Amino acid sequence: MALAAAPSATNSRIVAAWREASPASAALAAEAATLLPSGIAHDARHVEPYGPYIAHARGAHKWDVDGRRYIDYFGGHGALILGHSHPAITAAVAEALPEGTQFGANHPREIAWAKAIQRLVPAAERIRFTASGTEATLLAVRLARAFTGQPVLLRLVGHFHGWHDQMASGYTSHFDGTPTPGVLEAVASASPLLPPGDLDAVEAVLRKRRDIAALIYEPTGSSFGQVPLDGAYARGLRDLTRKYGVLLIFDEVITGFRVARGGAAEAFGVTPDLFTFAKVVAGGLPGAAVAGRREILDLLDFTAMDAAGREKIGHPGTFNANPVSAAAGIACLAVLAETDANAVASARAATLRAGLNEMLAAEGLPWAVYGTYSGFHLFTNPRHRPEVSPRDFNAMRIPVAELKGADPALVNRMRLALFLNGVDSNPRLGGFTSAAHSEADIAETVAAYRAAIRLLREEGEVL
Ligand SMILES: Cc1ncc(COP(=O)(O)O)c(C=O)c1O
Repeated sequence: MALAAAPSATNSRIVAAWREASPASAALAAEAATLLPSGIAHDARHVEPYGPYIAHARGAHKWDVDGRRYIDYFGGHGALILGHSHPAITAAVAEALPEGTQFGANHPREIAWAKAIQRLVPAAERIRFTASGTEATLLAVRLARAFTGQPVLLRLVGHFHGWHDQMASGYTSHFDGTPTPGVLEAVASASPLLPPGDLDAVEAVLRKRRDIAALIYEPTGSSFGQVPLDGAYARGLRDLTRKYGVLLIFDEVITGFRVARGGAAEAFGVTPDLFTFAKVVAGGLPGAAVAGRREILDLLDFTAMDAAGREKIGHPGTFNANPVSAAAGIACLAVLAETDANAVASARAATLRAGLNEMLAAEGLPWAVYGTYSGFHLFTNPRHRPEVSPRDFNAMRIPVAELKGADPALVNRMRLALFLNGVDSNPRLGGFTSAAHSEADIAETVAAYRAAIRLLREEGEVL
């Protein structure tokens, strides 16, 4: 997600140390700046003055072009539950690659991939592959509107579902639902935002309006639980959406095949009408899917729509079910089905959260680390709440604006300090663990966060 541009203070010792440590990355960043807006390909990769350029990665680690090693918590934007270059995935890709990368035709792996999904998510009665999570949520919304005949999509403030027009406001800005630049007012107003965690607010809208097609949300809360939501809320939404005849879409692009083998639906014991999957589902390669109730996915089916006398929803997509992505996805889902990888990744994150909180307490810093499953988030206490304690922190008691309100300049400086200490966090200073993170990685990470905080303190950044 986008970080506001942070000032790259020329007198910062952290910035100076980072520049000195990363001459090869600096040279590439200078070249990239002449070609790519901000020198990058994804807003979440924006770091001032620049981030490391990665040369290769394995397991929990990645190495940059200056030969520096990082313990990686960016986790391929959440795609890498098994870590980098898992041998089963690498072997599957190596086998698939010489057979061809784009057949423009059906192929056996798309069936095996669908079966692998259904094995872990039995409610995926039908599956349509897309190339990205953004495309998956776009298709899910179109299916929901066509199925119900209603125009409006309910979303929750702060929840991210990709970058297409209907989802552009409300995740880092435009929390009132107004359109971001380039988006039509009519499109933005057809996907209004509600406060997360408030079932009464949802019911008030459903009671009043008859034009709602669906509600979509991230089941464990926005940005993998940075603003947490629980199973009780999911069950409440399921009851309400059923009662008012509205579809429930679980955006499991992050949670799918991560929080449990069967994702948040399994973890919470709730079956939505539609799922969107990406990231883990394709084993670290580009790929995604919409899945769910057969009668809804039948809107894509030539025969079913002929029989129903209805117009089918068109859905092309050059890279839908790409055979190499399919191979990676099948291999990844098989490992998840047959090992305790999900549980290991979650256990590592729990150890990391506890270790970081102990460290924060020892440093006397009123920040806190929280999260669920294989996620961790650093709360930097932007409003300086005196009652915040790392040993007893409940994110549910903190308003959304504060949980998501870290000072961008502080975050940027902390990321550089973490790079210097061999850790790549995500842009929220937290991240994803994988089954490849070891106990030793976790201990090293706690030490790296401590060292980074001390660097910030030396610069007078941290109270
Ligand atoms: C919950 C959620 N939905 C959708 C998306 C969009 O997926 P993609 O980046 O593959 O388009 C993301 C990406 O981070 C996501 O986290």
